Amino acid sequence: LVMGKIVIAIDGFSGCGKSSTAKAVAKKLGYTYIDSGAMYRAATLHFLNNHTVLTNIKEVNNALDSLKITFHFDPEKQTQETFLNGLNVEQEIRTMRVSDYVSEVSKLKEVRHSLVAQQQKLGKSKGVVMDGRDIGTVVFPHAELKIFMTADLSIRAARRQKEILEKGELIALEKIKENLGERDRMDSTRVESPFIKAKDAIEIDTSLLEFDDQVEQILSLAKEKIS
Ligand code: DC
Repeated sequence: LVMGKIVIAIDGFSGCGKSSTAKAVAKKLGYTYIDSGAMYRAATLHFLNNHTVLTNIKEVNNALDSLKITFHFDPEKQTQETFLNGLNVEQEIRTMRVSDYVSEVSKLKEVRHSLVAQQQKLGKSKGVVMDGRDIGTVVFPHAELKIFMTADLSIRAARRQKEILEKGELIALEKIKENLGERDRMDSTRVESPFIKAKDAIEIDTSLLEFDDQVEQILSLAKEKIS
């Protein structure tokens, strides 16, 4: 049993409702929510903007040196926005241009070391919910609660399509399925901290779950650990 604040690690595939679930859990507990995928996306956008050649370690390190990622919470809109070197990039990091390239950037050792260090700093004082692919395995291997979220690929694609549409971009379902499937493959097979389930993670398949139920499930697991 842990008194006080804990770390909740939520890992899962793209589109299984990870971010919105993590956000809702954080809000209920009064915790900070950190979207680690947004950090990989912002790094990817920065590399694209700088035309960084990924095979050139010097260029990669230079790009990382000039990369500053921050989050701003808007209490009125209840939204969290990602900033890259002071600019709001929340919309741009969700575009297909970034989605198609993010796994290439995320597999680089230099990128992972830099972002993982930043993530560990953000979670140092606990009371955080962080979602991603390696949170329970690499970033917070001692997290008090680890969740591994899954869902069928077609369900995830449909959810992602709706999410992108809300941001004003209409993308064919097949294209999204292809991108998700390819990212699943790349993220799971990369050499540097591949996306795998932590031994002590609790698996939740959200294919047939209602959003509120998945939030409730995680909340009750969290409360068991906190009290
Ligand atoms: O969760 P997302 O789809 O926004 O994540 C975007 C990409 O970032 C994902 O395809 C892999 C990478 N990622 C990662 O490698 N490690 C994390 N902890 C989070 C995301």
